[in-house]
Amino acid sequence: MSKQSERALRLGVNIDHVATVRNARGGDTPDPVRAALMAQAAGADGITAHLREDRRHITDADIDGLMGGLTVPLNFEMAATTEMQQIALRHKPHAVCIVPERREERTTEGGLEVAREENRLAHFIAPLREAGCRVSIFIAADKRQIEAAHRIGAQVIELHTGAYCDAHAEGRFDDRDREFEALREMSGFAHDLGLEVHAGHGLTYDTVQPIAAFPEIKELNIGHFIIGEAIFRGLEPAIHEMRRLMDEARG
Ligand code: PXP
Repeated sequence: MSKQSERALRLGVNIDHVATVRNARGGDTPDPVRAALMAQAAGADGITAHLREDRRHITDADIDGLMGGLTVPLNFEMAATTEMQQIALRHKPHAVCIVPERREERTTEGGLEVAREENRLAHFIAPLREAGCRVSIFIAADKRQIEAAHRIGAQVIELHTGAYCDAHAEGRFDDRDREFEALREMSGFAHDLGLEVHAGHGLTYDTVQPIAAFPEIKELNIGHFIIGEAIFRGLEPAIHEMRRLMDEARG
């Protein structure tokens, strides 16, 4: 298992969309494992990859390659299914992030409904924790969900920043500010409960700094924007700029 970076605010780079481009043609390129190694060399503190049930981007072979090649931690995103639990227990990645998954969605649209499924999820994550994986739950900035994540024994919550980013992109600034306030308040609430707080989804150069400035947040997971930006400026400069903005926001 890789050693966790000591940085106060870590950047996890999500490489799913390198696989999306590869799979559009069905061949071997571009290779998400190569992208992950480049991201690691460019200063990513971790790599995030979501093995979906339909394998629409990352594949089982990609996970093998990531586990074999990375020296930074792998954050393995997955739905709470038996198949995924078995894969995680076989690989024992540094971190497992439980996300909701619906086949018809384009991306992970909402947070996990932990409160409604508390019993099942508590049993689901127990063996992952016993295997040494740091278990994170991807949730909306909602007190009920955070309390439930804490009760089931998760060590980490990842707050879903998608609604904040969408509102910003669409110029709905009142909505954006409301979402932002909820994220700020709930970061503090979760931290006070003893949870490690992460955030991610939809973050861009325009939206990252206000979130990176929250002192409670230990990790941001960012993918789609960085991979898109890499088309124009290259992967390493795209990551460096995100890192620079995060560091600037932390002062
Ligand atoms: N965190 C989680 C839990 C996610 O599901 C995703 C998207 O796969 C991300 C972070 C990264 O989101 P984006 O690709 O929009 O930056």
